[in-house]
Amino acid sequence: MITNSKTIIVSNRLPVKITEENGEYILSPSEGGLATGLGSVYKRNNNIWIGWPGIEIPEHRQAEVTEKLAGLNLIPVFLSNEEISLYYEGFSNEVLWPVFHYLVTYANFEQAYWDSYKTVNEKFKAVTLNHLNSDDIIWIHDYQLLLLPCLIRSEQQEVTIGFFQHIPFPSFEIFRLIPWREQLIAGMLGADLLGFHTFDDARHFLSAASRLSSSNLSDNILIYKNRQVVVEAFPMGIDAEKFDKLTRTEKVARYTSSFKASLKNVKTILTIDRLDYSKGILQRLQAFELLLQLHPEYIGKLALYMIVVPSRDTVPRYKELKDQIDQLVGNINARFRTINWVPVHYFYRSFSVEFLSAIYSTADICLVTPMRDGMNLVSKEYVASRSNGDGVLILSEMAGASKELNEALIVNPNDIGNIMEAIVQAINMSPEEQHKRIKSMRAIVNKFNIHLWVKNFMDKLNEVKSMQESLHTK
Ligand code: G6P
Repeated sequence: MITNSKTIIVSNRLPVKITEENGEYILSPSEGGLATGLGSVYKRNNNIWIGWPGIEIPEHRQAEVTEKLAGLNLIPVFLSNEEISLYYEGFSNEVLWPVFHYLVTYANFEQAYWDSYKTVNEKFKAVTLNHLNSDDIIWIHDYQLLLLPCLIRSEQQEVTIGFFQHIPFPSFEIFRLIPWREQLIAGMLGADLLGFHTFDDARHFLSAASRLSSSNLSDNILIYKNRQVVVEAFPMGIDAEKFDKLTRTEKVARYTSSFKASLKNVKTILTIDRLDYSKGILQRLQAFELLLQLHPEYIGKLALYMIVVPSRDTVPRYKELKDQIDQLVGNINARFRTINWVPVHYFYRSFSVEFLSAIYSTADICLVTPMRDGMNLVSKEYVASRSNGDGVLILSEMAGASKELNEALIVNPNDIGNIMEAIVQAINMSPEEQHKRIKSMRAIVNKFNIHLWVKNFMDKLNEVKSMQESLHTK
C-alpha cells in the first residue's frame, strides 16, 4: 500500500542552530545525540522536524529563515525575546527543570511563566497542525512541550502521538508541588505512548497521572478519556559506532598525540558537562580537592580536565553556578599547583566532536557525577571511545545510565568521600580489570545504540496504535 503518511518530530530546539554574523543568518548543525539519532528519521521521505531556531528572528526576516530551513526538512517556530525569557528561561528552566531534578527550592512558580508556557505550546500546536495530515505520526520531545500532546489531540482525535521525556520524572511528592500539576499531566496524556529513560521515571509518571487525573491504571496502561495511553521505559543510546570509528581518524589521531605529549606521565581525569547545577560540578571539584589534601602523593601526578559547555547563562542560578565554579577552580589551583603542574585544567566552552573524541580516548578516568540526570550520554560516549579497551568510568547512581553501565564504579554524588575513594580505586585499577569492565560496558553501549532506541520507540508506537484501533473496531 502506498501511503503519504509522514513522521513529524517536534522539540523545543531544531537540530540546527541559527546565529547572526554581520546581519547574515548562519546555520550550523547541532552535535547533540538527539540530532544524530533522529537524523535518520527527519531526513527521510517527506518527514519533518519542527522547533525553535535558537534566537529571535524579526518578523520581516522570518520568510527568509523559513525558506532556508525548508531545504533541510526543518520547520521553524518563531519565538519573541519575551517568550524566550518567560517560556524557555522561565517556566521550562526555572520551574520544570529544577523540580524534575529534585531541586524544588530553585523553582520560581511565576504565573507569567506559566501563561507564556501555555501560549508557546499553543504556537507549537498551530505550526504542527499546519503541516499535519491525519495519518501522520507525531513524535514530541521533552519537558518544554508537555502540553502539546493534549493540544494536538483536542483538534485531531485519531492522530498518532508519541512523547519522550529526556529528563527525570520526579516522584509524586515532588511533582505535586507544582501549582499547575493537573494541567501538565493532562497535557502529557494526549499522547498514545509516553517514553522515559528509566523504569523509575515511568513508574513516577504513572503514579502522578493516576492520582492527578481521572484515569484508570492497569500495569503500564492508563485509560484516560476512553483512550489507552501506554507508558514505558526506553533508555536512550548513542551512535556508538561513530565514536569508536572517530578515534581512528587522522584528525583525532593528531589531537590525541599532541594531547598525550602535553601530559608527561600525568594521569588524567576527564569531566564534560553543560553548565548546570544538576551535574554536581562543585561536589566533584570538592572531591578532587579532598583527594589532593588527603593523598599528597598524587600532587604532580594527576590532573583534572574539566570541560563545562556554556548553557542557559541568562538564568540567574546558572550565572551563580558559573561564578562558584570559577572561584573553586581558582582556589584549588592556587592552593596546590606547582611550577610545572596544574591540578585543574578548566575549559568554559564547547569543542568539536573530533577534539572530544581525542580527549575521551586519552583520559585514564572519566568522572560523571550528576546529582540527578535523565540518562547522561557523556558516560556512554566515553565507553564507546575506549577502542583500546582500557579506562575507568566513575558514574553517579543518580544518572539513568547507571542502570545499564553496572561495571562503572558507582558513587553517590552527595558523598564527597565516596567520590574521592572511587578516584583512588580507579587510579590503582589493574589493566586486566579495566579491560574486563570496559568490554562489558562497550557491549551494552554498542547494542543498545541510538538507532535501536528510535526503532524500539517507533515500533511500540505503531503497536499501541494498532491495539487501540482493534479495540475500537470490536
Ligand atoms: C537537556 C534537555 C534538552 C535540551 C538540552 C540543552 O538535554 O533534555 O531538551 O535541549 O538539555 O539545553 P538547552 O536549554 O540549551 O536546549
